[in-house]
Amino acid sequence: EETFKIRASLLKWYYDNQRVLPWRTNQCEEKKESQEEREARAYAVWVSEVMLQQTQVVTVIDYYKRWMTKWPTVHHLAQASQEEVNELWAGLGYYRRARFLLEGAKSIVEEGEFPKTASALRNVRGIGDYTAGAIASIAFKEAVPVVDGNVIRVVARLKAISENPKEARTIKSFWKLAGQLVDPSYPGDFNQALMELGATLCTPANPSCSVCPVSEQCQALKISRKSESVLVTDY
Ligand code: ADE
Repeated sequence: EETFKIRASLLKWYYDNQRVLPWRTNQCEEKKESQEEREARAYAVWVSEVMLQQTQVVTVIDYYKRWMTKWPTVHHLAQASQEEVNELWAGLGYYRRARFLLEGAKSIVEEGEFPKTASALRNVRGIGDYTAGAIASIAFKEAVPVVDGNVIRVVARLKAISENPKEARTIKSFWKLAGQLVDPSYPGDFNQALMELGATLCTPANPSCSVCPVSEQCQALKISRKSESVLVTDY
Protein backbone atom coordinates (compact mmCIF):
# COMPACT_ATOMS: atom_id res chain seq x y z
CA GLU A 1 0.00 0.00 0.00
CA GLU A 2 0.84 3.69 0.32
CA THR A 3 3.66 3.40 2.85
CA PHE A 4 5.45 0.73 0.80
CA LYS A 5 5.20 2.85 -2.34
CA ILE A 6 6.58 5.89 -0.55
CA ARG A 7 9.54 3.88 0.81
CA ALA A 8 10.39 2.27 -2.52
CA SER A 9 10.05 5.45 -4.60
CA LEU A 10 11.91 7.63 -2.17
CA LEU A 11 14.81 5.20 -1.73
CA LYS A 12 15.19 4.69 -5.46
CA TRP A 13 15.23 8.45 -6.01
CA TYR A 14 17.79 8.90 -3.22
CA TYR A 15 20.16 6.26 -4.59
CA ASP A 16 19.98 7.91 -8.03
CA ASN A 17 20.14 11.54 -6.93
CA GLN A 18 21.84 11.90 -3.56
CA ARG A 19 24.65 14.37 -3.16
CA VAL A 20 28.00 12.68 -2.61
CA LEU A 21 29.06 13.67 0.91
CA PRO A 22 32.16 12.55 2.80
CA TRP A 23 30.20 11.05 5.72
CA ARG A 24 27.75 9.09 3.58
CA THR A 25 27.59 5.37 2.89
CA ASN A 26 24.59 3.52 1.49
CA GLN A 27 22.99 0.82 3.60
CA CYS A 28 21.82 -1.01 0.50
CA GLU A 29 25.46 -1.63 -0.46
CA GLU A 30 26.79 -2.57 2.93
CA LYS A 31 28.74 -5.68 3.54
CA LYS A 32 28.92 -7.28 6.95
CA GLU A 33 30.61 -4.81 9.22
CA SER A 34 32.64 -5.22 12.35
CA GLN A 35 31.63 -3.52 15.55
CA GLU A 36 34.60 -1.22 15.13
CA GLU A 37 33.49 -0.08 11.69
CA ARG A 38 29.99 0.61 12.96
CA GLU A 39 31.34 2.67 15.86
CA ALA A 40 33.57 4.60 13.47
CA ARG A 41 30.55 5.44 11.38
CA ALA A 42 28.53 6.39 14.45
CA TYR A 43 31.22 8.93 15.29
CA ALA A 44 31.30 10.26 11.71
CA VAL A 45 27.50 10.58 11.61
CA TRP A 46 27.48 12.28 14.99
CA VAL A 47 30.07 14.89 14.00
CA SER A 48 28.43 15.59 10.63
CA GLU A 49 24.88 15.79 11.98
CA VAL A 50 25.87 18.17 14.77
CA MET A 51 27.66 20.39 12.24
CA LEU A 52 24.63 20.22 9.92
CA GLN A 53 22.22 21.34 12.61
CA GLN A 54 22.69 25.06 12.01
CA THR A 55 24.94 25.07 8.96
CA GLN A 56 24.54 24.41 5.25
CA VAL A 57 25.89 21.22 3.71
CA VAL A 58 28.38 23.03 1.45
CA THR A 59 29.95 24.83 4.41
CA VAL A 60 30.05 21.73 6.58
CA ILE A 61 32.09 19.61 4.12
CA ASP A 62 35.45 21.35 4.72
CA TYR A 63 34.96 21.63 8.47
CA TYR A 64 34.03 17.98 8.62
CA LYS A 65 37.14 16.92 6.70
CA ARG A 66 39.43 19.02 8.91
CA TRP A 67 37.76 17.67 12.04
CA MET A 68 38.08 14.03 10.98
CA THR A 69 41.72 14.52 10.01
CA LYS A 70 42.50 16.00 13.40
CA TRP A 71 40.33 13.63 15.48
CA PRO A 72 39.66 10.50 13.41
CA THR A 73 37.98 8.60 16.26
CA VAL A 74 35.98 9.37 19.37
CA HIS A 75 39.08 8.38 21.37
CA HIS A 76 41.17 11.05 19.65
CA LEU A 77 38.47 13.64 20.26
CA ALA A 78 38.21 12.76 23.96
CA GLN A 79 41.88 13.80 24.33
CA ALA A 80 41.34 17.24 22.77
CA SER A 81 41.06 20.49 24.69
CA GLN A 82 38.10 22.84 24.46
CA GLU A 83 40.42 25.48 22.97
CA GLU A 84 41.55 23.22 20.13
CA VAL A 85 37.97 22.25 19.41
CA ASN A 86 36.79 25.86 19.41
CA GLU A 87 39.63 26.83 17.12
CA LEU A 88 38.60 24.30 14.50
CA TRP A 89 34.95 25.25 14.99
CA ALA A 90 35.62 28.97 14.35
CA GLY A 91 33.21 30.25 11.71
CA LEU A 92 30.54 27.60 12.30
CA GLY A 93 28.93 29.45 15.20
CA TYR A 94 26.86 28.10 18.04
CA TYR A 95 29.92 26.94 19.98
CA ARG A 96 27.68 25.05 22.39
CA ARG A 97 27.56 22.32 19.74
CA ALA A 98 31.34 21.93 19.82
CA ARG A 99 31.33 21.80 23.61
CA PHE A 100 28.69 19.05 23.58
CA LEU A 101 30.72 17.02 21.06
CA LEU A 102 33.79 17.16 23.29
CA GLU A 103 31.84 16.41 26.49
CA GLY A 104 29.98 13.62 24.74
CA ALA A 105 33.22 12.07 23.45
CA LYS A 106 34.70 12.11 26.94
CA SER A 107 31.67 10.42 28.45
CA ILE A 108 31.48 7.80 25.67
CA VAL A 109 35.17 6.93 26.11
CA GLU A 110 34.67 6.76 29.88
CA GLU A 111 31.73 4.38 29.41
CA GLY A 112 33.93 2.22 27.18
CA GLU A 113 31.66 1.85 24.15
CA PHE A 114 29.50 3.82 21.79
CA PRO A 115 25.80 3.67 22.77
CA LYS A 116 23.98 1.79 20.01
CA THR A 117 20.30 2.58 20.39
CA ALA A 118 18.46 5.88 20.10
CA SER A 119 17.33 5.67 23.72
CA ALA A 120 20.87 4.98 25.00
CA LEU A 121 22.29 7.73 22.79
CA ARG A 122 19.85 10.25 24.29
CA ASN A 123 21.59 9.81 27.63
CA VAL A 124 24.78 11.36 26.23
CA ARG A 125 24.99 15.06 27.07
CA GLY A 126 24.21 17.17 24.04
CA ILE A 127 22.61 14.32 22.05
CA GLY A 128 18.91 15.00 21.60
CA ASP A 129 16.16 13.18 19.73
CA TYR A 130 17.38 14.34 16.32
CA THR A 131 21.03 13.33 16.70
CA ALA A 132 20.11 10.10 18.52
CA GLY A 133 17.77 9.13 15.67
CA ALA A 134 20.36 9.99 13.03
CA ILE A 135 23.17 7.98 14.64
CA ALA A 136 20.95 4.99 15.54
CA SER A 137 19.37 4.75 12.08
CA ILE A 138 22.38 5.60 9.91
CA ALA A 139 25.16 3.84 11.84
CA PHE A 140 23.29 1.05 13.68
CA LYS A 141 20.27 0.48 11.39
CA GLU A 142 17.68 0.99 14.09
CA ALA A 143 14.29 1.73 12.53
CA VAL A 144 13.81 5.07 14.26
CA PRO A 145 12.82 8.37 12.64
CA VAL A 146 14.80 11.59 12.31
CA VAL A 147 12.69 14.73 12.30
CA ASP A 148 13.99 18.18 11.38
CA GLY A 149 12.35 21.12 9.64
CA ASN A 150 12.74 19.51 6.22
CA VAL A 151 11.18 16.24 7.34
CA ILE A 152 8.27 18.05 8.98
CA ARG A 153 7.52 19.90 5.74
CA VAL A 154 7.76 16.76 3.59
CA VAL A 155 5.58 14.67 5.91
CA ALA A 156 3.10 17.52 6.36
CA ARG A 157 2.66 17.66 2.60
CA LEU A 158 2.57 13.90 2.07
CA LYS A 159 -0.20 13.63 4.67
CA ALA A 160 -1.77 17.08 4.12
CA ILE A 161 -1.39 18.05 7.75
CA SER A 162 -2.02 21.73 8.36
CA GLU A 163 -1.60 21.96 12.11
CA ASN A 164 0.87 24.49 13.49
CA PRO A 165 4.25 22.76 13.21
CA LYS A 166 5.71 24.89 15.99
CA GLU A 167 3.48 23.33 18.66
CA ALA A 168 5.00 20.58 20.80
CA ARG A 169 1.95 18.36 20.27
CA THR A 170 2.23 18.66 16.49
CA ILE A 171 5.98 17.97 16.50
CA LYS A 172 5.29 14.86 18.56
CA SER A 173 2.78 13.70 15.98
CA PHE A 174 5.38 14.17 13.22
CA TRP A 175 7.83 11.94 15.11
CA LYS A 176 5.08 9.32 15.27
CA LEU A 177 4.20 9.64 11.58
CA ALA A 178 7.83 9.59 10.49
CA GLY A 179 8.35 6.54 12.69
CA GLN A 180 5.60 4.71 10.81
CA LEU A 181 7.07 5.68 7.46
CA VAL A 182 10.72 4.78 8.08
CA ASP A 183 11.92 1.81 6.05
CA PRO A 184 12.90 -0.99 8.46
CA SER A 185 15.50 -2.45 6.07
CA TYR A 186 17.33 0.80 5.25
CA PRO A 187 16.30 3.25 7.98
CA GLY A 188 19.35 5.49 7.66
CA ASP A 189 19.06 5.80 3.90
CA PHE A 190 15.34 6.45 4.19
CA ASN A 191 15.78 9.18 6.80
CA GLN A 192 18.45 10.87 4.72
CA ALA A 193 16.25 10.56 1.65
CA LEU A 194 13.44 12.45 3.43
CA MET A 195 15.89 15.19 4.48
CA GLU A 196 17.39 15.30 1.01
CA LEU A 197 13.96 15.58 -0.62
CA GLY A 198 13.09 18.48 1.68
CA ALA A 199 16.39 20.20 0.96
CA THR A 200 16.30 19.83 -2.82
CA LEU A 201 12.80 19.27 -4.31
CA CYS A 202 10.20 19.67 -1.56
CA THR A 203 11.35 23.20 -0.77
CA PRO A 204 9.28 25.71 1.22
CA ALA A 205 8.49 27.85 -1.82
CA ASN A 206 7.98 26.57 -5.36
CA PRO A 207 8.51 22.84 -4.71
CA SER A 208 9.44 20.76 -7.77
CA CYS A 209 6.40 18.49 -7.67
CA SER A 210 6.67 17.55 -11.35
CA VAL A 211 9.91 15.64 -10.72
CA CYS A 212 9.13 14.47 -7.16
CA PRO A 213 9.42 10.70 -6.64
CA VAL A 214 6.44 10.65 -4.25
CA SER A 215 4.10 13.10 -5.99
CA GLU A 216 1.63 10.25 -6.60
CA GLN A 217 1.40 9.70 -2.86
CA CYS A 218 1.30 13.37 -1.89
CA GLN A 219 -2.01 14.35 -0.30
CA ALA A 220 -1.24 18.08 -0.35
CA LEU A 221 -0.57 17.96 -4.08
CA LYS A 222 -3.83 16.06 -4.62
CA ILE A 223 -5.77 18.70 -2.71
CA SER A 224 -4.06 21.60 -4.44
CA ARG A 225 -4.85 20.12 -7.85
CA LYS A 226 -8.51 19.76 -6.97
CA SER A 227 -9.08 23.11 -5.35
CA GLU A 228 -6.29 25.12 -6.91
CA SER A 229 -5.40 26.20 -3.39
CA VAL A 230 -1.71 26.63 -2.76
CA LEU A 231 0.42 23.70 -1.73
CA VAL A 232 1.13 23.71 2.00
CA THR A 233 4.13 26.02 2.18
CA ASP A 234 4.25 27.24 5.75
CA TYR A 235 6.70 24.71 7.09
N1 ADE B 1 20.65 17.60 6.79
C1 ADE B 1 21.07 17.21 8.00
N2 ADE B 1 21.53 15.96 7.96
C2 ADE B 1 21.39 15.53 6.69
C3 ADE B 1 21.67 14.32 6.03
N3 ADE B 1 22.20 13.30 6.68
N4 ADE B 1 21.37 14.25 4.73
C4 ADE B 1 20.82 15.30 4.10
N5 ADE B 1 20.55 16.46 4.65
C5 ADE B 1 20.82 16.59 5.94
